[in-house]
Amino acid sequence: MPDDTRRPKLLITAGPTHEPIDAVRYIANRSSGRVGIALADAGARRGWDITLMLGPVAREPLHTHIRPLRFTTAADLRDLLREHAPTCDALVMAAAVADFMPRSPDLSGKMTRTGGMKSLELVPTPDLLAEVVSGRRPGQIIVGFALEPADRMLESAREKLRRKAADAIVANPLGTLDADTIDATIVPAIGPEEHLGPLDKAAFAERLLDWIEAHRSPPGCADRA
Ligand code: CTP
Repeated sequence: MPDDTRRPKLLITAGPTHEPIDAVRYIANRSSGRVGIALADAGARRGWDITLMLGPVAREPLHTHIRPLRFTTAADLRDLLREHAPTCDALVMAAAVADFMPRSPDLSGKMTRTGGMKSLELVPTPDLLAEVVSGRRPGQIIVGFALEPADRMLESAREKLRRKAADAIVANPLGTLDADTIDATIVPAIGPEEHLGPLDKAAFAERLLDWIEAHRSPPGCADRA
């Protein structure tokens, strides 16, 4: 195990969020959490200090030296990030946070079919990545993801990079969600874009950790950001 003062502290979020509609139903997406889990396993194999915040998926990391934290909703994830993000060296926001949540879920009851058509009022979830960036500590590296239709993938990733002020956005096409491979491009705030794919998710994880390692401030240096 490497010297603790040089061991990067990496925080990863992965998987979908579930936003309740009523006591039994929710809004979700098809994220499997596989990319984030692969990153956590790859980081743990390197001896990094890994915290994995994982949404409601059945899959789990293989490596035992990973601190697992579970979330269900975007609000749960926000609470976890407020507690743990300030102390990490690098954050990878691979979680597929729901963009919208029902305005007033009835958590004690169940919407019935009687009465015909119903509509659901949705409100945007808070932008967790932008929140972490705005409260960042000097020296932290913050990487987000953007899952987009292939024809406007890079353009959207560049726009998200500017809007969220992260250090990099990993752009990947919609098909990545339940595929074994990822055809990713790292779109950084500074430096050239790097096309990494198509790779299996474990190989991609190694390449993204290499990128983080290369862009990380040396220990004790607080002049980034
Ligand atoms: N993200 C977040 N909080 C949200 C939504 C997204 O932190 N409420 C993060 C994701 O984890 C990802 C990045 O932001 O790292 C991009 O997510 P995406 O859903 O593509 O971006 P949005 O902000 O939702 O933008 P848009 O609705 O325009 O696609």
